[in-house]
Amino acid sequence: MVTLPLAVTALLLVPAFSAADPIHIPIKRRSGWPATHMDHLAAAEFMRARYGYGSAATPTPATKRMQRRAGSEQSLNFVNQQGDSSYFGTVNIGTPPQSFNVILDTGSSDLWVADSSCVNCDRQTPVFKPDQSSSFTQQRNTVTPISYGSGNVAGFVSTETVSMGNFSLQNQGFLSVESVSDQLLTGSVSGIMGLAFGAIASTGAVPFWQGLISSKQLAAPEMAFWLTRFRGTKFSEEEPGGSFTLGGTNASLFQGDIEFLPMAGPSQPTFWLLGVSAVTVQGKSLKVATGNNALAAIDTGTTLIGGPSDDVANLWAQIPGSAKIQSMPGFWSFPCSTTLNISMAFGGKLWPIAPADMNLGPGDNNPQICLGGIFDLTQGSNIEANQGNPSWVVGDTFLKNVYSVYRSDPLSVGFAQLSDLAGSSGAPGEGPKNDASTTVGPAPTGTSTGGATSQSPFMNTTLSLLVLLPALLLSLL
Ligand SMILES: *[C@@H]1O[C@H](CO)[C@@H](O)[C@H](O)[C@H]1NC(C)=O
Ligand SMILES: *[C@@H]1O[C@H](CO)[C@@H](O)[C@H](O)[C@H]1NC(C)=O
Ligand SMILES: *[C@@H]1O[C@H](CO)[C@@H](O)[C@H](O)[C@H]1NC(C)=O
Ligand SMILES: *[C@@H]1O[C@H](CO)[C@@H](O)[C@H](O)[C@H]1NC(C)=O
Repeated sequence: MVTLPLAVTALLLVPAFSAADPIHIPIKRRSGWPATHMDHLAAAEFMRARYGYGSAATPTPATKRMQRRAGSEQSLNFVNQQGDSSYFGTVNIGTPPQSFNVILDTGSSDLWVADSSCVNCDRQTPVFKPDQSSSFTQQRNTVTPISYGSGNVAGFVSTETVSMGNFSLQNQGFLSVESVSDQLLTGSVSGIMGLAFGAIASTGAVPFWQGLISSKQLAAPEMAFWLTRFRGTKFSEEEPGGSFTLGGTNASLFQGDIEFLPMAGPSQPTFWLLGVSAVTVQGKSLKVATGNNALAAIDTGTTLIGGPSDDVANLWAQIPGSAKIQSMPGFWSFPCSTTLNISMAFGGKLWPIAPADMNLGPGDNNPQICLGGIFDLTQGSNIEANQGNPSWVVGDTFLKNVYSVYRSDPLSVGFAQLSDLAGSSGAPGEGPKNDASTTVGPAPTGTSTGGATSQSPFMNTTLSLLVLLPALLLSLL
């Protein structure tokens, strides 16, 4: 009897797994919602909370050092940024399926939706109705909270049939949420789908995308995002925001090769992490911490880019007229007439960020001074590098400029240039050559020549829901 070689046997077995074609899910996005500079500040605070950094309210000595070094500060009001906010897609839960908009978030790992017992949900928010599903099972009798900054969601860890397109899992763990912090959910978004790794899931459940991979439903162990920026002028509750592909990529949305960069960080993956290898500003390479000392979480669920104190201060020090903003700890302003040319590399090419994405708009008391899209995430925190915690968070400000791909085997994040169909983006540049003569920094003192001096005693505690949402899922570790 002839024994088939192993490879041939494996080939014959392939049809049994019959993985499906990738699915392409339209992403929707809020637009034109009334973001204020406090929304950005809130977003920064929640990003800090998500990634384990302390609040700006209690600066460490290191922070104080930074502040002394940074020279003069700006006091400005920033309003109406027309910011791009959360990107969401549709997931089906239950039998028969109930359809919900959930934020697609590569920076967290839990799935949750508000349910019909929700005591403080907005009346317009569609809620999951467990009693109308034959496949719903509540797994725990105790309430599980998920905490973030100044609020939380709470509910019951349950299992359900969950599907996106043709991909479906029975007994998917999720949090059926019965209470949310004040005004947390408004409009049509009912929850979050976390697309990071199970190790940081508060529910303990295997994330949906990982379940699809282990049940061999995906032809390729990949998820990909095209995220658009706001181009309109007037408020509309929802508008197209790009496209999410599960189980592959959509070749019509990018051009050239996808540069896959190996994951950095702990051996048991948590967030989608890459090691920063270079940051350039106005064509000059910054001296930055790199590699495992500079882990970057690639996070579709946050809007801005946050980085370590020294590197961010050094970056802004290269921009004449930039200054710290007194009323917004960690943020810088810069002259609106300056075109910011900033690129980031993660071991390969330099990926440019469009100047428009780095400029969050003018202050309302000085239209010549604009808010910058990179802020100080760590605020001088002395959390040690090389412990697996990211010191950079690379959010939509960067991700709108690339087609991004999240691949679990081999573990990597890929970036490609957007195609013309996807709105096009700048071609990547050559990666760094580590030529010390072309690197700049550390930050010199007194870089500011800014003119705005008026005070902004601006303490708007009404936090924008859409900014809070992506930052919700602080792990209960
Ligand atoms: C989904 O499944 C149906 C029926 O099996 C099939 O006709 C369709 O092509 C599938 N769609 C995708 C996107 O795979
Ligand atoms: C790829 O994305 C474009 C733009 O969203 C869409 O029109 C197209 O249908 C997608 N391709 C596939 C195979 O679905
Ligand atoms: C922006 O910076 C990159 C990287 O340093 C450089 O290659 C490019 O020429 C610059 N673009 C402009 C318009 O200055
Ligand atoms: C605070 O925010 C709310 C809602 O975003 C807004 O209605 C209010 O005018 C803001 N207050 C100030 C002082 O900007």
